[in-house]
Amino acid sequence: MALLLLLVTLTTCAATPQNLEYKMFTFPEATNTAHTKLLTTKQNLSAVTVCLRSFTDLRRGHPIFSLATSVASNDFLIFKLDESDLFDLWARNKNAEFALQDYKLNTWNAICSTWDATSGIIQLWVNGKPSSRKFVSSGFNISEPMSIVLGQEQDSYGGGFDINQSFIGMISDVHMWDYTLSSRELCTYTNEPWWDDNRNGNGNVLNWNALDFQITGRVLIEDMPSPYC
Ligand SMILES: *[C@@H]1O[C@H](CO)[C@@H](O)[C@H](O)[C@H]1NC(C)=O
Ligand SMILES: *[C@@H]1O[C@H](CO)[C@@H](O)[C@H](O)[C@H]1NC(C)=O
Ligand SMILES: *[C@@H]1O[C@H](CO)[C@@H](O)[C@H](O)[C@H]1NC(C)=O
Repeated sequence: MALLLLLVTLTTCAATPQNLEYKMFTFPEATNTAHTKLLTTKQNLSAVTVCLRSFTDLRRGHPIFSLATSVASNDFLIFKLDESDLFDLWARNKNAEFALQDYKLNTWNAICSTWDATSGIIQLWVNGKPSSRKFVSSGFNISEPMSIVLGQEQDSYGGGFDINQSFIGMISDVHMWDYTLSSRELCTYTNEPWWDDNRNGNGNVLNWNALDFQITGRVLIEDMPSPYC
């Protein structure tokens, strides 16, 4: 009975998935509240791939993608550090640093990360360029309910936001898979533009073309600017 009630509650809360093709989330100001929560029914992930496009002029540290569970606030986190060319990738509260990434301000960057629970290897792709492959943590699945947040970095499940780590800018084309994409697939994500219907490769955990999400605070859904001047 309790389970049934829980299921009913979950169903009621879940919004109808929206097709956000040609759209982006705009995070226009620094706050410790505004964010978008991405919802999925998938659980028990033994591998992860996340891809998205982001645009910002932030020079301070900021989150790109924050996934928390009850056991780890940084169960899977892509974080851009203060230093201009450094990224931190996290799995189960362990991190690895990645240097000299081809990340540019004031332009769209295609960012992907993969992690595999068996090998514990995590990797970053920025604008189609793969990083070194590094060990972070292995031997567990992301098996607890996930709180996935854009625009803020979670220091606790669904909260613990810091205004000085808020994301200001735009994010689009977010996809997440429960397996690691091949190099070829990651190249395709980067190079085949999001307006190309033939790109064919939507995430099976999060899918920008059928996205279930909740917005809190000043986050706008706007049209993606034309890629042509
Ligand atoms: C992790 O998930 C995979 C795929 O769903 C499953 O085969 C495996 O048994 C899981 N491992 C644990 C420890 O739950
Ligand atoms: C994850 O999946 C595996 C294999 O299906 C199962 O044995 C395990 O109990 C699952 N763990 C959780 C927490 O659901
Ligand atoms: C954020 O940064 C500003 C400027 O450095 C500082 O004054 C403020 O205390 C910081 N706020 C928090 C919550 O850390």
